[in-house]
Amino acid sequence: MSRTLIVSNRLPTKVLRTDEGLTFQPSEGGLATGLGSIYRQGDNLWIGWPGLFVQDESEEEHIRTELRADNMAPVFLTENEIRDFYEGFSNSTLWPTFHYFSEFATYEQSHWEAYVAVNEKFCEAVLAEAGPEDTIWVHDYQLLLLPEMLRKARPEAAIGFFLHIPFPSQEIIRVLPWRSELLRGMLGADLIGFHTFGYLRHFLSAVSHLLGLSAQNGQIDTPTRSVRVDAFPMGIDYQRYALAAASEEAKKHVEEYKEAMRDTRVILSIDRLDYTKGIAQRLRAFELLLQRYPEWRGQVSLVMLVVPSRDQVPQYASLKEEIDELVGRINSQYRTIGWNPILYFYRSLPLEELAALYRLAEVALVTPMRDGMNLVAKEFIASKLDQHGVLILSERAGAARELSDAILINPTDINQLVEALHDALVMPEEEQATRLKAMQALVKRYNVFSWTKLFMNQLAYTKMKQHTLATE
Ligand code: G6P
Repeated sequence: MSRTLIVSNRLPTKVLRTDEGLTFQPSEGGLATGLGSIYRQGDNLWIGWPGLFVQDESEEEHIRTELRADNMAPVFLTENEIRDFYEGFSNSTLWPTFHYFSEFATYEQSHWEAYVAVNEKFCEAVLAEAGPEDTIWVHDYQLLLLPEMLRKARPEAAIGFFLHIPFPSQEIIRVLPWRSELLRGMLGADLIGFHTFGYLRHFLSAVSHLLGLSAQNGQIDTPTRSVRVDAFPMGIDYQRYALAAASEEAKKHVEEYKEAMRDTRVILSIDRLDYTKGIAQRLRAFELLLQRYPEWRGQVSLVMLVVPSRDQVPQYASLKEEIDELVGRINSQYRTIGWNPILYFYRSLPLEELAALYRLAEVALVTPMRDGMNLVAKEFIASKLDQHGVLILSERAGAARELSDAILINPTDINQLVEALHDALVMPEEEQATRLKAMQALVKRYNVFSWTKLFMNQLAYTKMKQHTLATE
């Protein structure tokens, strides 16, 4: 029986050390729910890092056993690997570069070496589990070298790779000293997937300019093999959000919040703490809205949820300070005894509370500077059972390619953002419903399960075609 092995840096379960000992919690992000339908089946397996530093072997054993019972296998990272591979090369070199923040990128040889070593560590972990018939699906920028490493060890294996972040213009990629190694690493896969055709085009142009390889009809020919590339826009588990929003618990929370906020209208902002998300720009736009349209003072609040992330990386720590300062400044200038301009939460919330916020919000403000896809936009749409609400979406989020019925904005254009906020707050209900209905149909149909199926089918088909060609 052939199995599917999912490989990503972060496992869908994260292990935390608390006073009561180790606890196991779902990780943030849409991937875990999406691929949940695959890795929990039969003998399938998800291989990845459980998110904490473990020194003690008996603790490692305990984690291994617990995770195995839920079809997961941990790859443990040392403290140095967390610093040089995770915070270093992955999140201080690749992340800023791929999101067009090259000015934040560092280029450290020691970080690169740790990146190679950890990709090798993942390779060994996969090889220890994978049988010759198994399908291996590798995810995201932390593991760009893994497909090629696996290919060397298993020339016949079915290997898929999906990039969850943007693939930038080759002019940006070429700045990286290790650009060729990274591209070759990805090309070890049989099928490479991106969220949008734009990212795919950038990848083809990088492969052609930097490796001299040509591509035709979604196929790149390397000297030894051919590799398929395609766009697969990722979706969400629509029913999960629709049901959570419809739940009695969410309804109860909505009533509580409304009462506490005295029916103030709500603009919602939800992100991981990240400079790519445009959080500070969003705050400045809200401040300008209150200046330019004083009629909204006392009427509208910005509810802003920032989920802690990568706080050991200097850019993230300074962004946190900037946000704290901006929120403090705006609130102190405009607040009244009965009204808070910004309700700011720096933590993650359980699904029912999140669903209540989605339900309550009249406007969702999703304005990243760059974002591979952005699932918050889709979650908001799925939660709008009464079809009342407006999505303001950055044209630089992958989701904007699909959600053309949102109010699309350029997040650096603060004036456009202010006007979009004002327009959203005065948009007639029929228009809100028309736009939401169209987007709901799309998000419901192209959900995470159809995304997974499409990718896996395409990978199987690619493999079958290779086989037929080889035996002809
Ligand atoms: C983005 C990346 C994922 C990553 C997630 C959380 O969505 O594409 O690969 O897992 O952020 O970031 P973290 O560094 O906490 O894993």
